[in-house]
Amino acid sequence: MLNIVLFGPPGAGKGTQSHNIIDKFGLIHLSTGDLLRHEIAAGTELGLEAKKLMDQGLLVPDEVVIGMISNKLDANKGAKGFIFDGFPRTVAQAEALDRLLKSKHSKIHGMIALEVNAEELEKRLLHRGKDSGRPDDANPEIIRKRIREYNSKTAIVADHYKSHDKYHQINGIGTIEEIFENIQKVIKSF
Ligand code: AP5
Repeated sequence: MLNIVLFGPPGAGKGTQSHNIIDKFGLIHLSTGDLLRHEIAAGTELGLEAKKLMDQGLLVPDEVVIGMISNKLDANKGAKGFIFDGFPRTVAQAEALDRLLKSKHSKIHGMIALEVNAEELEKRLLHRGKDSGRPDDANPEIIRKRIREYNSKTAIVADHYKSHDKYHQINGIGTIEEIFENIQKVIKSF
């Protein structure tokens, strides 16, 4: 198996590059943001609770996203590997992911972190907000709140992978193709 965490702040390009990676390497894309938006679209109780937090730019509780990831890992037995996008977002989620993969005799091979400055992130998300239909892209204050939430709760997750020598930083500014070239070089080193 090949398991990769694609990491970075809101708007860094995780979703965009995940699609390139799954096409090239045949991995399964697990995006907790997408899974939560499916729950919202389906009108489930979980989705309705998550929406209240997501619309404010806040993280949903760890147990909710850990449960979703656990279900997806069970549902995809025999997969070649996974690309985790937007997960883990807290140290508790990172530790839970290690436990879940260990129980399947596997592990995270590396974290690829896309580095993009706050000014560029805001510009990308505001631009997308016009047609993404995502309420959390619609206003600059919520976008800033998402970035603050990343800085206060999520950025530290990188240390978990640094301490296991699994952290790889990539410049997330440039063309999508250039960035993907650099991501491929890292993946081929795993
Ligand atoms: P989530 O859906 O994960 O959103 P996010 O992290 O805020 O990330 P985005 O999807 O906005 O950005 P991205 O990095 O994927 O960039 P993208 O490729 O789209 O989470 C949403 C919410 O769900 C969270 O706020 C939280 O409430 C909840 N949630 C999700 N996971 C959770 C978890 N694990 N724990 C708790 N809560 C959780 O690109 C962005 C834009 O930039 C696009 O328009 C794209 O076209 C453009 N772009 C991409 N690359 C480039 C480039 N190189 N140059 C110029 N533009 C580019």
